[in-house]
Amino acid sequence: MTTVAQAADPPADFQPATAAGANGSRFVRACLRLPVDRTPVWFLRQAGRYMPEYMAVRRHHSLLDICRTPDIAAEVTITAAERLGVDAAIIFADLLLPFTPMGLDFEFVANEGPQVHAPIRTSAQARALRTDRTDDLLYVARAIEKVANHFAAPRSDGDQLGIIGFCGAPFTLASYMIEGGSSRNYIETKKLMYASAPIPSENCHPERSGAESKDLRFDSATNPEQDAWPILMSKLVTVLADYAAQQVAAGADVIQVFDSWAGALSPTDYRQYVLAPTTDLIRRIQALGVPVIYFGVDTASLLPAMRQTGCDVLGLDWRTPLDLAWRTLHHAVAVQGNLDPIALFAPEAVLHARVADILAQAAGRPGHIFNLGHGIVPNTPVDAVLQVVRQIKSSTL
Ligand code: CP3
Repeated sequence: MTTVAQAADPPADFQPATAAGANGSRFVRACLRLPVDRTPVWFLRQAGRYMPEYMAVRRHHSLLDICRTPDIAAEVTITAAERLGVDAAIIFADLLLPFTPMGLDFEFVANEGPQVHAPIRTSAQARALRTDRTDDLLYVARAIEKVANHFAAPRSDGDQLGIIGFCGAPFTLASYMIEGGSSRNYIETKKLMYASAPIPSENCHPERSGAESKDLRFDSATNPEQDAWPILMSKLVTVLADYAAQQVAAGADVIQVFDSWAGALSPTDYRQYVLAPTTDLIRRIQALGVPVIYFGVDTASLLPAMRQTGCDVLGLDWRTPLDLAWRTLHHAVAVQGNLDPIALFAPEAVLHARVADILAQAAGRPGHIFNLGHGIVPNTPVDAVLQVVRQIKSSTL
């Protein structure tokens, strides 16, 4: 039988990130599970509505204007990283930007989040999505170049700031395409998913797929939409791999793949419908020479399957104790996380104890990046975020 650890090991000829040889930045070294002088730290949504500097820019520009104007996106990215004194800057962009060149219009509606104008519900609609216009997204690469130039010189402690590019994962992006926005139960997404035959994966547990998959091939008269899911997965992987390649060429040291809503899936469904395309995407990004952080929320039961994608770092949400999650993964992958973002509203002493607890659970092992278990929410006190950064910086390994 294939164990999780065996299946998850990268191929023998796998070359880890060229961006981080022996002298790579603290953040990139931790992604590769190399020793570091102290735990690196950054925050999900570190440039967001909790930050007055971001709101000042936001008063004059829409979210999409900021994303699509390299000077402004770079400025917002740099300001947040410098204000917080973190070890990595995540480029200011949004998960849904690739929808536009794929031919899917959307907008951000105040207080309601994203809305896709014509959600995908049929194979014909999936077939009509375009994969040949990813160059339209080069404005993100231009912003990354500006950020990388700004942070080209080492900081006062001699360490180079890490530059993080990102994209959505196939499942999470497909959920927005199909539901048309945020969702509670993912009914339309799962309808299209279940209408398709499971996608074979070399990494799937043989005892859980294989035999069943054969029984699940429908004929097209009974099920006209059986092609929609595999077409969507494959087109998303094509576009996202090109988009990630643009970001790496522009100077991203690491790519984070956001599978924010993967926790809506059972491990069986994840393995049958999502693991193979996600693995394909992650392998293609790693082939560019950078480590990949793979992040989702509510993923406690999915972590072994997510690890099978071969990602370098798994982002943990705050519901799973970090030590337990890492043990489940045999410490064979780096981990990122996992403070409850709402702990940033707690009194100083409580917040201090929570941060200390996470560091104690990581126990100085190489391969821990401190972060939240999900994004900073609006109204979070900036001082609390700064307190966490000070605490991490004063904790030597
Ligand atoms: O510093 C950073 O991390 C900011 C860059 C960033 C944004 N979106 C800008 C943004 C990143 C990494 C994202 C990723 C993103 N976008 C995700 C995955 C992250 C996660 O939370 O798991 C998702 C699900 C999206 C899609 C999205 N964008 C939604 C659902 C919303 C609305 C929700 C809300 O909080 O209003 C957005 C809007 C958005 N994208 C904001 C920011 C800073 C807030 C809205 C604003 O400024 O008007």
